[in-house]
Amino acid sequence: MSLLEQIGKLKEEALGELAEASGAKEIEAWRIRYLGKKSRLNDILRGLSNLLLDERKEVGAGANRLKAELEKSLSQKEQALSRKQIESAGEEYLDVSLPGRSLPVGRLHPVTQVIDEMSQIFISMGFQALEGPEVEWDYYNFEALNIPKEHPARDTMATLWVDYETDGGDRPMLLRTHTSPMQIRVMEKAQPPLRVVVPGKVYRYEATDATHIPMFFQIEGFAIDKNITMADLKGTLYEFSRRFFGRDRKVRFRCDYFPFVEPGVEMAIECAVCKGSGCRLCSNSGWIEILGAGMVHPKVLERVNIDPEVYSGFAFGMGIERIPMLRYGIDDIRLFYGSDLRFLRQF
Ligand code: DAH
Repeated sequence: MSLLEQIGKLKEEALGELAEASGAKEIEAWRIRYLGKKSRLNDILRGLSNLLLDERKEVGAGANRLKAELEKSLSQKEQALSRKQIESAGEEYLDVSLPGRSLPVGRLHPVTQVIDEMSQIFISMGFQALEGPEVEWDYYNFEALNIPKEHPARDTMATLWVDYETDGGDRPMLLRTHTSPMQIRVMEKAQPPLRVVVPGKVYRYEATDATHIPMFFQIEGFAIDKNITMADLKGTLYEFSRRFFGRDRKVRFRCDYFPFVEPGVEMAIECAVCKGSGCRLCSNSGWIEILGAGMVHPKVLERVNIDPEVYSGFAFGMGIERIPMLRYGIDDIRLFYGSDLRFLRQF
């Protein structure tokens, strides 16, 4: 029998036997017999060098083809066997060699991170952080802050009113439009000296676009004591800016009007993009307004029985989302609340 004929016969024999083999042991025995070191196929491959060139080519190609075919059939057989094992084991099958499932790691929302960072700065200056109700009485949101019923300042804060079972009196209820009502709630309960910051959600009835959403965050702060002056207001907010935005960022105060302070100011920081020379982000002014502030109005103090002849104080309120937007160059506020993990995972 020529070598080529032997190869053909070997193939028939091997594949026939493999088809019959049923367990892992039998398959392994088959592998040793037909593909092992002492197999007939290996003998043929080793003997190739003794052949004449033409025969060597032919036999060599045939033997290698057979080897590849047997290896392929072996791995198919092994796969079929393990499939069968899994199927017959049903639900009890446990592959302890499988890698574990990795759990996604969560993190704080970027707005929460900024609130924590800001609160921490004020806490280190002696303030305490408090939270207050989001559903609020008209009295705290407007009236006690020196914004009576027909006051035009009400028009600047489009209000979401809450329908509720009236308790007989006329006490309109709303979703707070700013965190300032907490000034009143705190001063009603506690006597000066007071130093408090209040981060929290506020609501306005506004159309949604890249810079407006109906729910956003503010942080309110105020300090009431004897001899508090505008210098304390400026010193505190300067220090905040230095720590939060960096030492070199310029800060500007200008007059502004808010009914619950007198005098009132707005604070702006130098635009980080153009460094004050004017660009699209800062509407060519070189400045970005970040908060409103002022000296607490005597009428507000009187309303909570704090004597404005004895005590004075400053207050400020700042929108939160704008800050990470400026810091990270985010151009659409809606991204914060769209629950898109690709966005949130960046922080
Ligand atoms: N509550 C104001 C607003 O939402 C911001 C504000 C301005 C708060 C001046 C203050 C303040 O405490 O003194 O627009």
